Amino acid sequence: MVRMVPVLLSLLLLLGPAVPQENQDGRYSLTYIYTGLSKHVEDVPAFQALGSLNDLQFFRYNSKDRKSQPMGLWRQVEGMEDWKQDSQLQKAREDIFMETLKDIVEYYNDSNGSHVLQGRFGCEIENNRSSGAFWKYYYDGKDYIEFNKEIPAWVPFDPAAQITKQKWEAS
Ligand SMILES: *[C@@H]1O[C@H](CO)[C@@H](O)[C@H](O)[C@H]1NC(C)=O
Ligand SMILES: *[C@@H]1O[C@H](CO)[C@@H](O)[C@H](O)[C@H]1NC(C)=O
Ligand SMILES: *[C@@H]1O[C@H](CO)[C@@H](O)[C@H](O)[C@H]1NC(C)=O
Repeated sequence: MVRMVPVLLSLLLLLGPAVPQENQDGRYSLTYIYTGLSKHVEDVPAFQALGSLNDLQFFRYNSKDRKSQPMGLWRQVEGMEDWKQDSQLQKAREDIFMETLKDIVEYYNDSNGSHVLQGRFGCEIENNRSSGAFWKYYYDGKDYIEFNKEIPAWVPFDPAAQITKQKWEAS
């Protein structure tokens, strides 16, 4: 998860002044949203990831295509080999994400039920430095677990999240 910032920074460096949404002081707000579904829904990938920079989507990935696809302006940037590398990174995240969702529905004895896990990660980037990073997950719309940088540790908000915390902190 920590790798997301370097990946984005390298993209920013490649783009340079081509990013139109740059604020006056060169600040960027970066957000990733991951969504996983426990039950198959026709035509909807079980896992999807979206990345936004200052509220403009710049990449998407899903469990059907397994490819990180640049969106918007980013499509026009050539020599973006990072997208291939990013596809592998997203695939690895998909695996962990879906395993976590499986753990939760198993904890609640509801493996056949229809549930949604969502992850939100982001930070502010200014002068090549990131700040205010956050990592938080929601299960069926409710707070599930959050990374607290001050401790630093995962803070569970749900009984099942104790298991997730143990897993993530052990690896
Ligand atoms: C799930 O089922 C097991 C075995 O039947 C039971 O011990 C456990 O309390 C159940 N968990 C929940 C969250 O209901
Ligand atoms: C899920 O559904 C299958 C088939 O309908 C059933 O055999 C199984 O017991 C169900 N599992 C749970 C955890 O409800
Ligand atoms: C960010 O780092 C790159 C490479 O080190 C440098 O060229 C660029 O000027 C830096 N940008 C800012 C805003 O500091």
